[in-house]
Amino acid sequence: MKEKVELLKNELIEKINNVKSIKDLNDLKAEYMGKTGIITELQSGIKDVPNEEKKEYGMNVNILKVAFNENYESKFKLLEEEEVNKKIESERIDVTLPSKKIRQGSKHPMTRIQEELEDLFVSMGYDVYDGPEIETDENCFQKLNLPLGHPARDAQDTFYLENEYEAFLLRSQTSTGQVRVMEANKEKGPIRIVCPGKVYRRDDDATHSHQFMQMEGLVIEENVSLADLKSTLEIFCKKLLGEKTEVRFRPSFFPFTEPSVEVDVTCFKCGGKGCPLCKQTGWIEVLGAGMVHPNVLAMCGYDPEKYQGFAFGVGLDRFAMFRYGITDIRTIYGNDLRFLNQFTKGDELDEIK
Ligand code: DAH
Repeated sequence: MKEKVELLKNELIEKINNVKSIKDLNDLKAEYMGKTGIITELQSGIKDVPNEEKKEYGMNVNILKVAFNENYESKFKLLEEEEVNKKIESERIDVTLPSKKIRQGSKHPMTRIQEELEDLFVSMGYDVYDGPEIETDENCFQKLNLPLGHPARDAQDTFYLENEYEAFLLRSQTSTGQVRVMEANKEKGPIRIVCPGKVYRRDDDATHSHQFMQMEGLVIEENVSLADLKSTLEIFCKKLLGEKTEVRFRPSFFPFTEPSVEVDVTCFKCGGKGCPLCKQTGWIEVLGAGMVHPNVLAMCGYDPEKYQGFAFGVGLDRFAMFRYGITDIRTIYGNDLRFLNQFTKGDELDEIK
């Protein structure tokens, strides 16, 4: 019996030593100590042992049990430690590795144009007025000399709100800013503002979008003329389209200005010689303008005998299209990153990339 115990003991110690994982160690435990395990069976075999040998038999089985448990415990601790170390190693963070590149956003081309123009006009003493996009018919049309049923409204069909808000519409032009600023000016003194922002119309094709951007300009003073308007617009067009740009006025009609002009600039592509962009004319139409109509002044509380004013309205998208060579206005509002990523030049945060 003694040799058998010694043999079994050595065997189980060797087996425990060779085990490589906690799972295998537990399998070994089942093999020796489980319900039908080697040691368990030896233990229950005591009933067949003659009485006088029972004591020694019991002691020997116990030696095996103790040997198994001691070796099991120490091996278990060892394996557990090993597994924890492996886990730590596999999850280690190397803080010295270079980080992932953070994708830097950039200003939208329309924001760039808007900010550039705001800066220019602020440098000429203008304030920037930011009017609401939801407007009344009065502010969008009536007070701009477009009474109900006026035919010029057709070109500016827009979107109308419903139910309890049916008195409101989405402004079709930033000229609404003129009305708001004149009415808000309690002293009825001079005004010099630009009003950039979104406008809406029932349009949707390659050069017209249902939502686009305009910038309105309004100057009210006791003594301003069409010449002031022209020099102002010359500065503006040269700044945006190049120093060589020349400006030309053509007579036109807008209900809220009298006289009204359409403003053309020399084609920035061919310099005025004629090319497909300017349809061989050398000129490109860029904005509408004129002297504020006396009716508009009067409806907004100004004395037309005392004050004159000039106004202009620019489609900013058109300028962006010229400036950046964009052929379809809808790409401006499509939010396609392949398009937007091209406009990173000049952003203060560029260096971070
Ligand atoms: N509001 C006009 C439009 O959307 C543009 C315009 C023309 C504005 C002449 C003006 C102006 O202030 O004087 O078509």
